[in-house]
Amino acid sequence: MTDLQTAIPLCNSRDLVDRGDAVPFDVLYAGRTARGFAIRYQGQVYAYLNQCGHIPMEMDYQPNRFFDHSGQWLMCATHGAIYRPETGECRGGPCRTGLIKIELTEQDGVVHWHTAPNLKPLEF
Ligand code: FES
Repeated sequence: MTDLQTAIPLCNSRDLVDRGDAVPFDVLYAGRTARGFAIRYQGQVYAYLNQCGHIPMEMDYQPNRFFDHSGQWLMCATHGAIYRPETGECRGGPCRTGLIKIELTEQDGVVHWHTAPNLKPLEF
């Protein structure tokens, strides 16, 4: 984390269950309102912009559901693009790019997301 980043509390650690529902959050990305989502996979927490690498639309097929039935991949509900949970890399389907990663940290039972030059909280 650089000095220019700000850590913003997102949720309690127990809110993120391995391969379970995501925790959504609102951000300003490149000057527009967007949504992010945080997940837990193999014990680690990850977050991405909720924007498919095929067509820039939200991906969840039910609110906060991003994992496919196998629990191995994040899947876009619209045309079935799949992404690696650990990296957001496109692994199948029509995605042209990977997911846009949002840095997360987890400490003392709390998960924080981190701002970046093009990623800010809504009230910024
Ligand atoms: S919009 Fe996500 S796969 Fe097409």
